[in-house]
Amino acid sequence: MTYAIRAEGLVKRYGDKVALDGVDLEVPAGRVVGVLGPNGAGKTTTVRILATLLRPDAGQATVGGHNVVGDPVRVRSLIGLTGQYASVDETLSGVENLVLIGQLLNLSRRQARQRAAELLERFELTDAATRPIATFSGGMRRRLDLAASLVGRPQVLFLDEPTTGLDPHTRNELWEVVRGLVADGATVLLTTQYLEEADQLADRITVIDQGRVVAEGRPGELKRRIGGQILHVRPSVPADGEAVARILIELTGQIPERDANTGRLTVPAVDPMLISSLVRRLDAAGLMTEELGLRLPSLDEVFLALTRQNDFALLPVPAAPYGDMSAGEGRQLEKFSEDEGLQESAEGGMAGGKERLRVHVHEMGGQSAVGHIGLGRVGHP
Ligand SMILES: Nc1ncnc2c1ncn2[C@@H]1O[C@H](COP(=O)(O)OP(=O)(O)O)[C@@H](O)[C@H]1O
Ligand SMILES: [Mg+2]
Repeated sequence: MTYAIRAEGLVKRYGDKVALDGVDLEVPAGRVVGVLGPNGAGKTTTVRILATLLRPDAGQATVGGHNVVGDPVRVRSLIGLTGQYASVDETLSGVENLVLIGQLLNLSRRQARQRAAELLERFELTDAATRPIATFSGGMRRRLDLAASLVGRPQVLFLDEPTTGLDPHTRNELWEVVRGLVADGATVLLTTQYLEEADQLADRITVIDQGRVVAEGRPGELKRRIGGQILHVRPSVPADGEAVARILIELTGQIPERDANTGRLTVPAVDPMLISSLVRRLDAAGLMTEELGLRLPSLDEVFLALTRQNDFALLPVPAAPYGDMSAGEGRQLEKFSEDEGLQESAEGGMAGGKERLRVHVHEMGGQSAVGHIGLGRVGHP
């Protein structure tokens, strides 16, 4: 297989902060690879190294077979980059921006104008072409930014969170554009915080968290890797939620996620006997359910499980009560788990319309928190 991008053991430090801690990455030519990770995971740092804008402290990378440190000029001739923040000039019009870039790339004025016109047409910006960028909508700006990165007909395109902050409609438009580029033979490395986006666009996904690769594979493989399915149960009486949650915690050792709107509880189901055990327990307790079943996990759940494993290798979660969380207020729950020598506390509350629950783990008697397990939704800032 021909790889358009290969990186091995990339390390980057900013002072004491280790932004990348040995990242490996492979992108086959003509494919889309999604680099998925939360804020601060190291996505932009990775892209900047591959795009020759930043030197790694260790490790090496090639783009189109050329070393990014040893031969940056060759690499630059092959790539296009659309950053997280727009790089076009606000005071110029769409046409002027693209022509300027074309001329910087050594096209003649006539060639540059022709290339600009092609791209504006392709991105449906022709009508807006002569207006200053300052008057563009967010979606138009993103499209122009993408057009700008394509002036030099790059073989390899880096898209760093291309749809962050866009509304769903504009995001869909941009996805179509990316699909078109790939159909034309481009190789794309796309970073995103959106699992849906990686699932929609990428052939393979590399999940990074805190500067490390925590998983790599096709979306379907990643789903299988966390094993099993997701059990979902919705009590007929919403007030029974806590009692049902307690039973789920006892049976699975994990705190279920609860949807604040529907009262539905979900928890990973590894044990195939879980459903029948649950039915017996619910029956014995006289708890009725509106809904009870198994389904395949969403990518959100896959991601959560993978990053959580990375942090803690799935520490057993204490059988703490679920708590009656009300909107806008957090509630502290504490529980000591002597076996582990750890103090675990959970806090829950509403944020962004979703119920969130977080478990903190501290060393017993010590002052230092060893970290936390995020439960509930992975939040976008
Ligand atoms: N110029 C910098 N100086 C210091 N720390 C930085 C700098 N750039 C990034 N970092 C840190 O490196 C880590 C990775 O950042 P980044 O690659 O931007 O993550 P992402 O793009 O996934 O949000 C973060 O903790 C960030 O705060
Ligand atoms: Mg970034």
